[in-house]
Amino acid sequence: MTDITVDGLVKTYGDVTALDDVSFEIPEGEFVVVLGVSGSGKSTLLRCLNGLTPPTDGEILVGDETATGPRRDMAMIFQQHNIIGQMSAYSNALTGTLGRTRFLGSLLQLQDREEKLMALEALETVGLLDEARQKARRMSGGQQQRVGIARALVQQPDVLLADEPVASLDPGSAQQVMGYLRTAAEERGLTAVTSLHQVNLARKFGQRFVGLRDGRKVFDGYRDELTMDTIDEIYGDIDTEGMLAETDIDGDDEETIDQPAAGGGPVA
Ligand SMILES: Nc1ncnc2c1ncn2[C@@H]1O[C@H](COP(=O)(O)OP(=O)(O)O)[C@@H](O)[C@H]1O
Ligand SMILES: [Mg+2]
Repeated sequence: MTDITVDGLVKTYGDVTALDDVSFEIPEGEFVVVLGVSGSGKSTLLRCLNGLTPPTDGEILVGDETATGPRRDMAMIFQQHNIIGQMSAYSNALTGTLGRTRFLGSLLQLQDREEKLMALEALETVGLLDEARQKARRMSGGQQQRVGIARALVQQPDVLLADEPVASLDPGSAQQVMGYLRTAAEERGLTAVTSLHQVNLARKFGQRFVGLRDGRKVFDGYRDELTMDTIDEIYGDIDTEGMLAETDIDGDDEETIDQPAAGGGPVA
């Protein structure tokens, strides 16, 4: 059971209330996008979810258990893909087994056959099987982030968490990476929570949305409920027109999302 329940979550840093009584439930297998401007509390929410930051008040339940710290069944993908440049895509993906194998064993490449297969499978999921032997530093930012996704998948998590995973990428690469992320979660039946500040990407790849503003939850719903009015509520005075430029708000792109391309390719 990997349903996630966030119940009355509060996080304060001194005088700053980063999260203010945030509650929502995520059924297993849902792909949730957390939306909000910079400073609205997205990273804090993700850090609380993955157990890196203890809540000031409230609780997070994974299944029936109160989450009290980092968990093996949750894998995190970071904005700054902390990929090791000198290592191949494959070796980087294999480091996802670090929590599984002893560190030394991993350094000595003593992973067992099963783990090596998992790394190759994960690279295939993100469309990088042919590049498996390539050094990460020779890869594009988008490819490196896909290696980051592969490494997270190798942990065999039930929950994928990603904090602004495409923030440093150009729009084309960002779309591609989000496509692979969505496909990976869908193929493996993972619950996913991703923060994004770009509305167009969120609408294209998200299934369910949680909107934060000044640490408060101001929206919680599915794509058809994410109207211009609700977007205004989340983004306030910020001009969202540019952010929506690439998106047809009444979009006919729904179908592509729910039926990812066969063979595990990008959804976009
Ligand atoms: N470690 C911290 N110490 C103090 N304030 C913090 C810390 N982390 C976040 N904040 C504050 O909490 C609020 C929410 O930040 P954050 O969760 O990073 O938002 P977002 O990811 O949406 O940009 C901001 O006001 C930010 O300045
Ligand atoms: Mg952030």
